[in-house]
Amino acid sequence: MNDFNAKYDVYRNFTENALNDVFCDKAEDGKAIREAAMYSLSAGGKRIRPVLCLAFADVFGIGMSKVLPYACAIEMIHTFSLVHDDLPGMDNDDYRRGKLTCHKVFGEAMAILAGDALLNGAYDLMLRSIDTSADMTSDLKAMRILSIATGVPGMIGGQAIDIFTSEKPMDITALGQMYSMKTGALIKAPVEIACVLAGISGKAYDYAVRYADAIGLAFQIKDDILDVESSNAVLGKTTGKDAASGKKTFVSLLGIDKAKHELNITTDNAFGALSELSAFGYDVSFLDDFTRFLLVREM
Ligand code: IPE
Ligand code: IPE
Ligand code: MG
Ligand code: MG
Ligand code: MG
Repeated sequence: MNDFNAKYDVYRNFTENALNDVFCDKAEDGKAIREAAMYSLSAGGKRIRPVLCLAFADVFGIGMSKVLPYACAIEMIHTFSLVHDDLPGMDNDDYRRGKLTCHKVFGEAMAILAGDALLNGAYDLMLRSIDTSADMTSDLKAMRILSIATGVPGMIGGQAIDIFTSEKPMDITALGQMYSMKTGALIKAPVEIACVLAGISGKAYDYAVRYADAIGLAFQIKDDILDVESSNAVLGKTTGKDAASGKKTFVSLLGIDKAKHELNITTDNAFGALSELSAFGYDVSFLDDFTRFLLVREM
């Protein structure tokens, strides 16, 4: 696991350095909004989406620099989704990443705008990288993957369904479908983008996507379990929120034991897809450890 930790740090530091340069404009106009956006963007977080993008770029033998703008854009969009997810009109949360939420510090209007700025800034970052692109078609394809994953067919659409789960009956199949939108889409996007930029297609692409789908679902099941089993201090956000707000989750529909069972099955599916990928000659050892890390994570 030492190799894994060292590599994770490399990917994370690469991402952190690039994210530090986002919104670095020093102009007085827009200072307040840049501050609110950077507050949430630099608040920590596991950075699993950019790490995934960089790791797949490594697996497919393209330079990390090629995918870096996309990795950062995905993290910016993920952070935007969290800032808005925490708003009083949505989950109404006071803590995120171990700190007060954006709206608690800067007010609701600024938090809405910070989310908007993160979303727009993500596209600006990707579009800037196109100037030096040797293959603009792949870059545009990568951007399209992210716009769909973020939009109504993906994260935003999933969030819209999530809002009403406390009021409507929902079975586990429908819940899984909603999870593939609200959480899975932004976990699949970094993998698909790395594939597209590396020119990977056919079966290898299919197995990479199958892997991403599996860890995407596993990730949200684990999030549901942590909401019940973890503590505010460890998780960096308020626990017990799902039950308090009557949300449908894997835990509320199946109970904690069956939810854990589903988590294990889904994680096994991810390992299965990885072993198929390795049959193509790709070194998936980091991804193997990464999958285990997601399974046992405590925050
Ligand atoms: C939390 O995502 C929101 C979900 C999609 C469940 P993360 O657990 O990746 O949050 P950070 O980025 O590490 O704070
Ligand atoms: C959030 O799901 C998913 C997105 C932000 C897209 P949750 O509402 O379960 O995430 P947490 O638990 O607040 O991090
Ligand atoms: Mg939510
Ligand atoms: Mg929430
Ligand atoms: Mg949650």
